[in-house]
Amino acid sequence: MEEKWKHASTGCLRRWVANVAFGTLLAISLQSGTKLFAQVIQVEHQVPAPFTNRGAIQHKVDDLLKVMTTEEKIGQLNQVFFFAPSSSIDERIRKGELGSILFTTDPAQINRMQRIAVNESPHHIPLLIGFDVVHGLRTIFPVPIAMAASWDPSVEENAQRIAASEARAVGVDWTFAPMVDIARDARWGRIVEGAGEDPFLGSAMARAQVRGFQGEHLDAPDHLIACVKHFAGYGAAEGGRDYDDANVSDAQMWNVYLAPFHAAVDAGVQTVMSAYVDLNDVPATGNHWLLHDVLRDTWGFKGFVVSDADAVKGLKVHGFTRDLPDAALRAFDAGVNMEMAVGSTAYSTGIIEAVRAGQIPGRALDDAVRPILETKAAMGLFEHPFVEESRVESITRDPAHLEAARIAAEKSSVLLRNEGGLLPLRAEAYKRIAVIGAFAESRADLLGSWSLGANPSDTVTIAEGIRRKLGSGISVETAPGVQLERKFPSPFDMLSKAPKDPKWSDAQAKEEFERAIKTANSADLVVVTLGELQSMSGEAASVSSLQLAGNQEELLEAAVATGKPVVLVLINGRPLDIRWALEHSPAILEAWFPGTQGGPAIANLLFGGATPGGKLPFTWPRDAGQEPLYYAHNTTHSPATQSKRYWNQESTPLLPFGYGLSYAKFSISNLRIDKAEIKKDEMVKVSADVENLSDVSGDEVAQLYIHQQSGSASRPVRELKGFERIRLKPHEKKTVQFSVGKDELSYWASSIHNWVLDSAIFDAWVGEDSTASLHGTFTVAP
Ligand code: NOJ
Repeated sequence: MEEKWKHASTGCLRRWVANVAFGTLLAISLQSGTKLFAQVIQVEHQVPAPFTNRGAIQHKVDDLLKVMTTEEKIGQLNQVFFFAPSSSIDERIRKGELGSILFTTDPAQINRMQRIAVNESPHHIPLLIGFDVVHGLRTIFPVPIAMAASWDPSVEENAQRIAASEARAVGVDWTFAPMVDIARDARWGRIVEGAGEDPFLGSAMARAQVRGFQGEHLDAPDHLIACVKHFAGYGAAEGGRDYDDANVSDAQMWNVYLAPFHAAVDAGVQTVMSAYVDLNDVPATGNHWLLHDVLRDTWGFKGFVVSDADAVKGLKVHGFTRDLPDAALRAFDAGVNMEMAVGSTAYSTGIIEAVRAGQIPGRALDDAVRPILETKAAMGLFEHPFVEESRVESITRDPAHLEAARIAAEKSSVLLRNEGGLLPLRAEAYKRIAVIGAFAESRADLLGSWSLGANPSDTVTIAEGIRRKLGSGISVETAPGVQLERKFPSPFDMLSKAPKDPKWSDAQAKEEFERAIKTANSADLVVVTLGELQSMSGEAASVSSLQLAGNQEELLEAAVATGKPVVLVLINGRPLDIRWALEHSPAILEAWFPGTQGGPAIANLLFGGATPGGKLPFTWPRDAGQEPLYYAHNTTHSPATQSKRYWNQESTPLLPFGYGLSYAKFSISNLRIDKAEIKKDEMVKVSADVENLSDVSGDEVAQLYIHQQSGSASRPVRELKGFERIRLKPHEKKTVQFSVGKDELSYWASSIHNWVLDSAIFDAWVGEDSTASLHGTFTVAP
């Protein structure tokens, strides 16, 4: 009989964390809203308290709640978008009808609105100012999927620390990040905003981001509060179609989709955003199981929940509630503290009705408002609501931020092919370089999806980066060759600061294509830049095919046909169909949307100033027909024919999860497992030697995968359970060691609707990607 882990959490004692102030935690195991059992467990660890002086803050908030009117309390539950100064927003702030504003980064406007709030509103309560600081504010870092490709949480943490300082400088004190939705279908446009397909990597990146944004204490003046989103299951949208519903099993929910959220909560994230998604027929924003039972009861979350924009109103749209007031009541009851409203008036009108009708008792209203006020107090906003506008430029234009953005772009790039060691290029070997494709001179597109607070003119383009790197002796000529267009433009196309170039006529398109090839022909090296426009990946940017948009592939084919050495640089947020490229372009660098310093980073990577060391954070499919495709699938009926699931093409990935090359060459050997058998409360150590066999320095990411051979449920063929990015000098050898115990081996088993740590034989592999062959086993004893 296996020992059952009768706790409801995503799987580990380390993570059964609650603030020690709350003593014990009632862990309630629930399956889709059904209570199975309840058990009091002793809290084992203490989350670093994000409040410096909790007692004083609670006191202050209790005093405020005693004097606030019901209308003012409800006001704190309302957040609206600011697109331009508006007398109606000012009036609402003045009356205490708004707790938060989002979508401006203009310090003068922010100060102006804060002045109204603290000087003119009844109880002088400052506003929380929110913005999507997802991968930078003014200095734009690589998009989150790229940061995950660095497999280096410290790079991500540092980037978000810098982003926080820039945001706080302009008066933004709340970011709607990290986005931690697991994405296993590249058709879904928002894959670009998260850490990819894997819960272990995703959790590491989630923790790093919370630390980077929030720092040690909420009152740090150069940090802001984070908001983990979109809770939960949004990435499982059917068919990869953004906003479509998701049907996710209990086991997938706990073991995969909830894991990075739990990691963020354990790291002390102060706010959570409820998703648009209709999850298993209960829309997330009205989902009591998610927002109450899991988030608060099981994980001990003490911050507050904000809805996604108009997601409360969406409850009516989903056909889940009768009308808007009903939507407000159901969202409130489920656990949404604040409504983010574009046009919705659900909370501003519905909550008061419910209070008057006695459907929301005064105490419940206070409980909803309390964490919002506590957050404002803990951040020191009552004492310091304004920003010094004169300091904004020096903080947001700090050269150290640009340097960090360049390093992040270098660390996140992934070398996909390097036939014959074409890269790194020797600058002295070339006199004329052609940089062609839609991204050669593009600025906004290098920034990627969430960069509305940035100034695209700050971006250093790929061509400029190469020119700066190589100096004036080498000619760098550019030609776009193609013009890309989204078939159905998104709201982001309207908000984007990217220049709207007039559409090419057919004749012009032909002429431009030929000019690009002519440029390539007259050069002795061709850098081809292909991929996606800024708005082709992100929200409302799903695709039914992963083919390169427009006639980009033809451009590559024509460039290769010139017979010149061709290097392909990809600018994108999702895997694309690069089957032809992978066979015919000798060198391919995945640069993602690399950010403000994309140009210098790419130049360094191509010409040897930096060595690519990133690894894919998702499985790269051959085409969209294979999606969803991910490495951690369960062992199938016929593993031997895994590559023959389709009769018309191979069903294996084009490139595996964790894949990436380097200019250095590594070997991983000598796997050691310190114990052949462990008890359920013991750890096993798995180690291996990583050696640089080449004459150049480089980074390798050693990855540990495990597989449980039998148990209460069937388990994935492999699961990532450890990784480390290490730098090795030429011919240097280092040992990596991973500890594996309950945290890594427990899982939620559908068969028993519970957490379990089975006694079983486990396989372990250490290697450079998810196909690692260096293998050993250990046993967990009964
Ligand atoms: C909708 C998006 O889904 C969410 O990610 C974002 O934070 C809000 N809009 C605010 O911009």
